[in-house]
Amino acid sequence: MLAELFVYAASYRATPPAFRPHLGEAVGLWARGQRQTRAWAPHLANSRGLIDTTIDDLTARRTVVVLGSGPLFDVPVESLCRTFKRVILVDRIHLSTVGQRIDRYPNVERQWRDLSTASNPDALDFLEAIDDLDWVISLSLVSQLARAAPGAGRQVVDGHLDRLAALPCPATLVTDLDYRVFNRHGVMLDTADLLHGRPVPRSGLRWKWEVAPFGEEGHHTRRVHSMAAWPDWRHA
Ligand SMILES: C[S@@+](CC[C@H](N)C(=O)[O-])C[C@H]1O[C@@H](n2cnc3c(N)ncnc32)[C@H](O)[C@@H]1O
Repeated sequence: MLAELFVYAASYRATPPAFRPHLGEAVGLWARGQRQTRAWAPHLANSRGLIDTTIDDLTARRTVVVLGSGPLFDVPVESLCRTFKRVILVDRIHLSTVGQRIDRYPNVERQWRDLSTASNPDALDFLEAIDDLDWVISLSLVSQLARAAPGAGRQVVDGHLDRLAALPCPATLVTDLDYRVFNRHGVMLDTADLLHGRPVPRSGLRWKWEVAPFGEEGHHTRRVHSMAAWPDWRHA
């Protein structure tokens, strides 16, 4: 709790006022990631591994943009900073904790942006203004955008995924597809489609993310997300 208060306070001033209401949620995500290092390890290794191997396949390495970079749990930011001329991390919250990972690299910058097309259909237009854009990575973001847009979830999912598909450079997508809540007998108690009915190709990598093991959200329940990832969503 003390650590959370410290991170909140240390992140407050650098956060533009319009985004400060989201600080509490971001600190909560960071704290959960700290508690669940073991449960989250396979998921994080899959995400980071995909990014690391995709770097090798790219011929041009000028600017890379990471959408939904957040606390950088699933971002091998050091590899990005070493191989790209410019690394742009975009999220509505960048906690002070990311400084420990990026402060030594002069070629990385943070941008505070609302990436949801729910309130602003042009939310991803800033990508067009980056002349030397060679790679965009969208990381566990699209389901979060949909969650915050009740009644417009599918529209927001389509807005994000269709925009990624139209980019002039490779667009790596990592996303949750659904979640399932199980009890200790393995009985499924709850489930939801996090892409709101948007069909996705069967291609791509699949794995499970134990977001909330027993004890995190309930003593006798665990929540597991089905994840999918495509190195280049344009050719999925
Ligand atoms: C599941 S977290 C993943 C974070 C990061 N990829 C990681 O694992 O360290 C989703 C991220 O999306 C960000 N996010 C949610 N809604 C957003 C929005 N409307 N605009 C920008 N970022 C948003 C959150 O701040 C959070 O960092």
